[in-house]
Amino acid sequence: MAKTIRTQVGIIGSGPAGLLLSHLLDKHGIETIVLERQSRLHVEGRIRAGVLEQGTARLMREAGVNERMDNEGLVHDGVSLAFGNRVERIDFRAHTGKGVIIYGQTEMTKDLIQARLNAGKAIEFEAPALAVEDYRTGTPRIIYEKNGERHEVICDFVAGCDGSHGVSRQSIPAEQLTLFEKVYPFGWLGILAEVPPVNDELIYINHERGFALCSMRSHTRSRYYIQCALEDHVENWSDEDFWKELHRRLPSAAKDQLVTGPRLEMSIAPLRCFVAEPMRFGKLFLAGDAAHIMPPTGAKGLNLAASDVFFLSRALTAYYAEKRTDLLDRYSETALRRVWGSIRFSLWYTSLLHKFDEDPFNHRIQLADLTYMTGSEAARTSFAENYIGLPFEKFE
Ligand code: FAD
Ligand code: DHB
Repeated sequence: MAKTIRTQVGIIGSGPAGLLLSHLLDKHGIETIVLERQSRLHVEGRIRAGVLEQGTARLMREAGVNERMDNEGLVHDGVSLAFGNRVERIDFRAHTGKGVIIYGQTEMTKDLIQARLNAGKAIEFEAPALAVEDYRTGTPRIIYEKNGERHEVICDFVAGCDGSHGVSRQSIPAEQLTLFEKVYPFGWLGILAEVPPVNDELIYINHERGFALCSMRSHTRSRYYIQCALEDHVENWSDEDFWKELHRRLPSAAKDQLVTGPRLEMSIAPLRCFVAEPMRFGKLFLAGDAAHIMPPTGAKGLNLAASDVFFLSRALTAYYAEKRTDLLDRYSETALRRVWGSIRFSLWYTSLLHKFDEDPFNHRIQLADLTYMTGSEAARTSFAENYIGLPFEKFE
């Protein structure tokens, strides 16, 4: 029989945005329901981002879900940039006093799910939202499906945290949205393998054959990416082919350190940038990938989902505690200012490191830009403060 559930905030999506929001609201006694299209196994198995900014780590602590992150996460105080025949390190700690935490999005998601279930709060898995209704004027409703039946959630507010292909944004009439989009002519082919990383910090590589990134999930698990053609397929790549191509692109000093092994996962992510404005429609609020995606260079996607949740959780908490609506009214403008700030960095960093064409002039310009960036104290500081993440409070 069809159910009607009442709650204060209906959250669509159990990615980092939806889960973090549910925890932060829970801390303030605000009731939530989380609907998730996929199974728990599927959500916990997705390999995605790996770098947490300070602000994201701080929200995990505020949510009280930080134990494993703080015990197992690796604090990185810098990254290296390899270009020409050089490797230059940028020291975040020296320039900003802060670092980033290497902790997989997969692990963060598992922790947030387990903590919510431990607290006796439900996540409705395999319960796709089909539509959001009446969010403009009346009491919003989320129509969803579970076990082949249609149900509804009636709530004060809806948080659309359902990623770039979710229904929240699709529930808004097209003429009320302004979309900004940029598509890149290449993708990233990524491998995850149970082998020690080539270096104890990340290396971003500008190479004549294309971009490469040496990342990791732990001291024993490596994550590597190489730039590939947009039309390429994982089936075209054996493990051996991948390691050979990565080896070619590594700086000389790292080549001998490369340990290879069978893939745990291999996937291709196309590079794309997309922003939907505004992020608020009456009582429906978009957060995370539902409103914006960007090229992965600089690892901003997950961290922007967290900053949206910071602004939205503050706004909803002020509403329930003091009946204040000013932060809700400002949510879209505030969140978008930080979104565009991160996009600016991601696009610039993408343009600096990838091979766009065969024109040697363009490669020379990239090398000159990298030489300036790593050689100037001011430019290094600017890079470091963007990489570790612009402080949320600056945008409030
Ligand atoms: P998501 O994590 O996408 O979560 C949305 C959730 O909503 C999902 O669980 C989805 O199943 C659910 N959902 C969707 N539709 C419905 C519905 N109708 N009803 C109910 N639930 C629904 N960022 C980086 O910084 N570095 C990376 O290396 C990186 N790699 C990536 C690789 C891939 C393949 C992808 C897709 C993204 C990657 N990103 C990366 C981006 C980063 O992972 C995202 O920015 C981050 O996941 C955003 O979190 P979110 O909660 O907003 O969205
Ligand atoms: C990772 C992804 C990124 O986009 C990045 O800039 C750094 C690390 C990663 O998946 O480890």
